[in-house]
Amino acid sequence: MSLAERFISPRIDKEMSGRDGPPGQRAALLKLAAEIKDVVNLNSGDPDLTAAPVAVEAAVEAFRGGKTHYSHGGVPSLRAAIAQKHGRENGFTVDPDTQVIITNGSAEAATIVFQTILEPGDEVLTTDPYYGGHVNNIVAARGRPVFVPTRGDDLWEPDPAEVEKRITPRTRAFIFANPGNPTAAVYRKETLQAFLDIAHRHNILMLPDELFERYVYDGRTHVSMASLPGSEERVVTIHGFSKSYCMTGWRLGWVAAPKWLAPALHKMKYALTMTSSTPNQWGAVAALSDAAKPYYDEVYRTYGERRAFWYDAWTKMGLPQKPAPAAFVGMIDIRRTGRPAYEVSEAILKEARGFIWPGTFFGSLGEGYLRVGLIKPMDVLQDLGRRIGPVVGKMLGAARTA
Ligand SMILES: Cc1ncc(COP(=O)(O)O)c(C=O)c1O
Repeated sequence: MSLAERFISPRIDKEMSGRDGPPGQRAALLKLAAEIKDVVNLNSGDPDLTAAPVAVEAAVEAFRGGKTHYSHGGVPSLRAAIAQKHGRENGFTVDPDTQVIITNGSAEAATIVFQTILEPGDEVLTTDPYYGGHVNNIVAARGRPVFVPTRGDDLWEPDPAEVEKRITPRTRAFIFANPGNPTAAVYRKETLQAFLDIAHRHNILMLPDELFERYVYDGRTHVSMASLPGSEERVVTIHGFSKSYCMTGWRLGWVAAPKWLAPALHKMKYALTMTSSTPNQWGAVAALSDAAKPYYDEVYRTYGERRAFWYDAWTKMGLPQKPAPAAFVGMIDIRRTGRPAYEVSEAILKEARGFIWPGTFFGSLGEGYLRVGLIKPMDVLQDLGRRIGPVVGKMLGAARTA
């Protein structure tokens, strides 16, 4: 028996993300991409845009001013700013002193929730297609992910009946990204209300991950599940600064938790990483301030422009799109090519130098789609669109003659 076999839990290789898609496909595409010069990679969740200058200044100021000590429980001004934000923008109230837990990214927010609520073998519902980090976090806490199907034709919104059908005595929670990654889904109020009713009926928790909150378009609005009546004890909001505030590398997120759960989460946060970066938290206070608003309004406009261009470009290539309402990430419908998503992704990489994951790397229901991150400036997206056009044209031609 090798050291790895003796010591490394099998769940690291077998159950964590990286297993996504048929075996070997991810490694094959990565190898191919490494061999091609000037590849445009639209896979990552880390865009070109950076934090509001006032946030950067506030963090630098905190470093200079010696605000560099532990911040047990989180910097009080940040907890207050988050509580105010939830009241002002999301329509729900939390006590900043007890119910807001500052974390290292929303990734750690999910970590502390699962490490707190799960016993080995407990089940957590999530969507297919899914966000890999959610699955990893469930597995890390020795839980078992159970997948609820979603479909592009429904704009990737789960049917509450499909959620309810999958509940067993081991189910503890349903985690979902709203707005969605990878799908850009935005759940309607009535759907969220139906999920909440399920939570009450079956004594489980709802864990909305609202990291992409700001990027909602097409006249739709984001509804925070915690704003619904009856949500106070059942909804644990997972949030963060990475996407809506362009602060990926700052590693800051939070949980807005029910009163009965928050003390346990504080305890788990302390056990895992004690506190989050104090100067960065001061930067985050500024990111939530009115002074940062014009900057983030411009970021919103930028993603809207990229989104509109991108889906339109694919439609003009002969692949009609029915995009889900959010931006930043999203799914490209390639079903008309008649080819598996992996093949389309591979052809685009080889022939157009565009690196875009097949939807199947996010669950089997991603078949027929590519998953894109709108993480590059318009001119790069436009160039790439021009290169992809002939590749798609060739596939559609072949599909017609077949
Ligand atoms: C839906 C979703 N949740 C959570 C995360 C984790 O992000 P972070 O820890 O940077 O907040 C990501 C990152 O891509 C994500 O897409």
